[in-house]
Amino acid sequence: MNVNTNLWNRIRYSGLAPIYDLIARPTQRMRRRSLALLDLQPGERVLIAGAGTGLDLDGITPGPILTAIDLTPAMLEKLRRRAGRLGLAVDARVMDGHALEFADGSFDAVILHFIVAVIPDPVLCLNEAARVLRRGGRAVILDKFAPDQGPLPLRLRLLNPIASFFATNVNRRLGPLLAGSGLRVVHREAAAGRGFFQIALVARD
Ligand SMILES: C[S@@+](CC[C@H](N)C(=O)[O-])C[C@H]1O[C@@H](n2cnc3c(N)ncnc32)[C@H](O)[C@@H]1O
Repeated sequence: MNVNTNLWNRIRYSGLAPIYDLIARPTQRMRRRSLALLDLQPGERVLIAGAGTGLDLDGITPGPILTAIDLTPAMLEKLRRRAGRLGLAVDARVMDGHALEFADGSFDAVILHFIVAVIPDPVLCLNEAARVLRRGGRAVILDKFAPDQGPLPLRLRLLNPIASFFATNVNRRLGPLLAGSGLRVVHREAAAGRGFFQIALVARD
């Protein structure tokens, strides 16, 4: 089974949708830190790519103009309900992060939380994020990453077949993925797990 396909993502995230918020609860502190770095302003056009059940919405105060896309309808359904509870207007659409249906430069900011390690082609995903950002726009990336250099740690090599089958890859390296994307790293920090979870603020020059 090739786990890096859109079909498999849609199947497994449809299954995970009912329990996703419970599993992802420990990520809330990290995503708040990432959103603080992004520092959204009222009126900014914001894309949440691979938005899932909308956990990021808990950390966004009304003001920005929010668009959320995800491949899995069951995840987006939960996002729509969350947006309603929070009183946030969100244009939520089923869409493939490899081929965003937005014109170049449509957004001031993009949120990429826990999508780069999941989407089948992370380079294409980052290129698309760069394309839909305006010049001078910025994005935050939060995910699990292997170190940029050196051999892949044994624990990640052992974990990846299981982790990638059920939910996410754990063997991707952010630095090489960003090279050539048009996104420049402004700030990068370890978020948790001794640097396994990382946050990067990147800019579209
Ligand atoms: C680990 S979840 C992250 C959800 C959310 N961003 C969060 O931080 O909780 C990964 C999400 O990526 C979505 N996804 C997977 N492949 C995708 C694709 N090709 N295009 C858009 N979304 C995709 C899944 O449906 C799932 O909702």
